[in-house]
Amino acid sequence: MSELRCVIEGVGGYLPERVMTNAELAGMVDTSDEWIRERTGIRERHIAADDELTSDIATAAAKAALDHAGIDVSEVDLIVLATTTPDQTFPATATAVQAKLGMEGGAAFDVQAVCSGFLFALATADSMMKQGLFKTAIVIGAETFTRILDWSDRGTCVLFGDGGGAVVMRAIDAAEAGERGLIAHHVRTDGRKSDLLHVDGGVSSTGTVGQVRMIGNQVFKHAVTNISSAVRAVLEETGYSADDIDWFVPHQANQRILDGVAKKLKIDEAKVVSTVALHGNTSAASIPLALWTAVQDGRIKSGDLILSEAMGGGFSWGASLFRY
Ligand code: ACO
Repeated sequence: MSELRCVIEGVGGYLPERVMTNAELAGMVDTSDEWIRERTGIRERHIAADDELTSDIATAAAKAALDHAGIDVSEVDLIVLATTTPDQTFPATATAVQAKLGMEGGAAFDVQAVCSGFLFALATADSMMKQGLFKTAIVIGAETFTRILDWSDRGTCVLFGDGGGAVVMRAIDAAEAGERGLIAHHVRTDGRKSDLLHVDGGVSSTGTVGQVRMIGNQVFKHAVTNISSAVRAVLEETGYSADDIDWFVPHQANQRILDGVAKKLKIDEAKVVSTVALHGNTSAASIPLALWTAVQDGRIKSGDLILSEAMGGGFSWGASLFRY
């Protein structure tokens, strides 16, 4: 069999209609627009409607990506959905998306790696497709993350938002792909650090959903170190340098983390795609949402070399390199 390569054929995104500004949050907890903007870069975030599920958000993003790719859903044989906020404990939310898209075959499953989830999902789909198991996949990051927030904790509730992003990928002959396609992934976790960022509930522990707990300043330090090491690993493995990167599309946790990583890796700040001001941290959705934003506004073009990175609960972290 000839060598296969996964290429991204379309990108889509969806943001819930309701926008919550920093000023609105300042009416709920002891914070201010100025504090939130200065420490995080966030100005506003989207909040899912009461009857809007993660699967609705994921389906809307998937449909947008299929439209962008010009690919009919009947061709899709794999859905990998990264989410921390599933519709139900089981079945996988990806199967709800499969049904909502009208798919009658293929396979659909969820990946849970919190804010790094999209990169873990991308690496998983890429590995399976390169082995020839599936031909056309939708890889999605979607969250109703605000449902697991403690709205009285100013240290966390100001940071997060809801939304979804998706890419449609095809496995094609590597010769036909030319330079396009997914090039390398580096994903890692360290379970010893879970106390610094976790949810204080779960099916087998408390029988409740729980709420986000975080020691933000400690997470911040680990984030810059872990992300930088993952990025260096993919660059070293592939022989590319930071100068070769056309666009840096990071997980959108905090503008200061984005700036810190870009500076450490000597990536020109003009190449950094930042959506954190308008989306907040949408966990697994943030990378595909940022990708979608920069593809839509014409910054990212076919053939551009893209570097993505993420860090989240677990700790989990990773980086991916691909040519769009
Ligand atoms: N408004 C006003 N004051 C606040 C707020 C707020 N919303 N939140 C915290 N403070 C206060 C604290 O209580 C503290 O007060 P004190 O000095 O009287 O005790 C002071 O601000 C400083 O607190 P720090 O936590 O040291 O502030 P820091 O500059 O580190 O900013 C922040 C906090 C924004 C959370 C930052 O640490 C951060 O972004 N960390 C990374 C978090 C992250 O990225 N998490 C996500 C990655 S994983 C994932 O995406 C799920």
